[in-house]
Amino acid sequence: MLSQRLDAYPRLPLGDFPTPLQPLPRLSDWMGRPIYIKRDDLPGPTMGGNKVRKLEYLMAEALSLGARKVVTFGGLQSNHARLTAAAAVQCGIEPHLFYFERRPRQLSGNLVINELLGAKMHFIPFGGGGNASMTLEKSIRLVRLVARIVTGPHYFIPVGGHSWLGCLGYVRAALEIDAQAREMGLERAWVVLAAGTGGTLAGLMAGFALLNSPLQLLALDVGKLWLAFPASIARLAGEICAQLGTPRTFSAQNVPLIEGIYTGKRYGVPSPAGMAAVKLLARTEGILLDPIYTAKACAGMLDLIKRGRLGGQEPVIFVHTGGLPGLFAFPTGFVP
Ligand SMILES: Cc1ncc(COP(=O)(O)O)c(C=O)c1O
Repeated sequence: MLSQRLDAYPRLPLGDFPTPLQPLPRLSDWMGRPIYIKRDDLPGPTMGGNKVRKLEYLMAEALSLGARKVVTFGGLQSNHARLTAAAAVQCGIEPHLFYFERRPRQLSGNLVINELLGAKMHFIPFGGGGNASMTLEKSIRLVRLVARIVTGPHYFIPVGGHSWLGCLGYVRAALEIDAQAREMGLERAWVVLAAGTGGTLAGLMAGFALLNSPLQLLALDVGKLWLAFPASIARLAGEICAQLGTPRTFSAQNVPLIEGIYTGKRYGVPSPAGMAAVKLLARTEGILLDPIYTAKACAGMLDLIKRGRLGGQEPVIFVHTGGLPGLFAFPTGFVP
């Protein structure tokens, strides 16, 4: 059984699971389609988020290896970096965060939390990828090299926790969503989410495939960050299945990802449609989205529903992947 195969890997509990799967009655009325939300924004320290599921496996490995330092990297408002720092502090490990940008004159959002946590932030204003000039894998290899020089021995976590081990967290989430959906009569629902490094998507792809789940997946790219992104996601999903003892092949063409369209200007910059979605969710359901990931993915989902491009009348489950601190990094004037 899949849950037993997952249990073979050590996991450090960092959040309360399962997370709720809740109906959004007012938004559903507004859109004329049943819409639900999977609250993966809730679990974990420092305002939580999707990276908690990945860090449960990664930090368990860091501890088992006796790591004294943990290193990761991301964009300035990386929720992954903030959550890695929080998880490391909880484990008594020194967090080092790399940003391949200039240090902002004033820290905001996630960066404020990093400072409160005592994380060592390294700002190196060149390289690091994230502008679609290199693949995700190449970017990870490059930063790993830089980190080795700057920090000495450490446990390295790729951007976004993008590794088969971290993504086991989203195989567990697939089990959770599949069971909740069946209980609530949502077997054929669409499951919609944001893709940044694609690990959350890869974990869900692997999990649903191994479960033969009838749930249908769709991810919306929020960044135009990586060269040959679908191929990286397909490779990772295949690796996850292989590690769980059931090899499966995924092709780049069949990765359920819409690239570019809902990204807005670029990664890290809120889009008008995204900020309208933040306002809509807040004003219909009292739920806050983040401006960089979930806002853009939700805006994409609403647009696809409006244009009749998201299946027929099946229910839709939006995976809220967190990122709340990002909301406090931008002036409210950004809300159109
Ligand atoms: C709030 C939030 N949502 C979604 C994502 C995307 O997750 P992934 O990197 O697994 O695609 C991230 C991180 O990248 C995130 O911080």
